[in-house]
Amino acid sequence: MTNKKKIAVIAGDGIGPEVVAEAIKVIRKSEELFGYQFELEHGLFGGIAIDERGTPLPDDTLAMCQSADAVLLGAVGGPKWDNNPKELRPETGLLGIRKALGLFSNIRPAVVFDCLIDASTIKREVLQGTDLIVVRELTGGIYFGEKFRREGANGQEAVDTCVYSVMEVERIVRQAFEIALKRGKKLASVDKANVLETSRLWRETVNRIAADYPGVELEHVLVDNCAMQLLRRPTSFDVIVTENMFGDILSDEAAMLTGSIGMLSSASLGEGSLGLYEPVHGSAPDIASKGIANPIATILSVALMFRLSFGWEDAAAAIEKAVKNVLDAGHRTGDIATENETAIGTSAMGDLIVAAMTK
Ligand code: IPM
Ligand code: MG
Repeated sequence: MTNKKKIAVIAGDGIGPEVVAEAIKVIRKSEELFGYQFELEHGLFGGIAIDERGTPLPDDTLAMCQSADAVLLGAVGGPKWDNNPKELRPETGLLGIRKALGLFSNIRPAVVFDCLIDASTIKREVLQGTDLIVVRELTGGIYFGEKFRREGANGQEAVDTCVYSVMEVERIVRQAFEIALKRGKKLASVDKANVLETSRLWRETVNRIAADYPGVELEHVLVDNCAMQLLRRPTSFDVIVTENMFGDILSDEAAMLTGSIGMLSSASLGEGSLGLYEPVHGSAPDIASKGIANPIATILSVALMFRLSFGWEDAAAAIEKAVKNVLDAGHRTGDIATENETAIGTSAMGDLIVAAMTK
């Protein structure tokens, strides 16, 4: 295996470029410490691409991502483009890149750091020990089904269709079982099988695949109940697998357990080793260009990239350890600082993490 990898960097909008700049420092430090080599290529994506090129996902950006070993994404979107037609919205670029790269699986870990527990709105005793992963199906369901408007008996109607094939369910569910096998060996499959036909197919498929994983304890949870249980007993979850829109909602909820969405990384994967890595948070236009955003989610996304796309556990662990040490030493960005803690800025946090990285 080669020690050299090509990373496509699409920083995007809002705080995207600021947090990505810190992640790049961490990538460079990993070269120094572990002898890996990275070629970084930059491309336009999201709102900035709409402004400069008239489309959220220019062909050359997509081609650059397709020929890379991994993609690092900052964030996209902002009020400036919110009222644009669908083809000229940054979110359309995000859905487009997921689909074009075949990234059907979105992995969002939610880990409660002990030293940040008081930053959460949930009680300490409920949260302590929370360490779960939401595995979200990313290229199917209502996000990608046929959408249209029509005239009905009572005036205009809008239709969004939700479609899932057995193949689409099977590949994501297998991946979730594999992840569970390597962790706490518990899988919660979330659906709405009491109402939706796609959910009934989902549940049948999960039950069939479960026979191949006798070592994993499986529970089926209805999505409304899951939303409740996440607040009530978060520590009882290990891996949660669910369809696209349920996963969108539940992963934001899981994120807030940890205190700040500014801490959470994510990986989007397909069949091969190419993956797209991005923070779970958005472009936060309200704090953009102020140098105060928390870069940790993006930095931890680099750790996920090293582990999941490259198999470089040493560098991944070094990054995660450095983040933990910096937090344990009491350094905080504004989003995770309590009243009597002084907040530091984006690049100061990045520098501290780089300095804390060791072999
Ligand atoms: C996410 C986001 C996106 C989604 C939006 C921006 C299209 O909320 O990545 O969770 O809904 O998938
Ligand atoms: Mg979301």
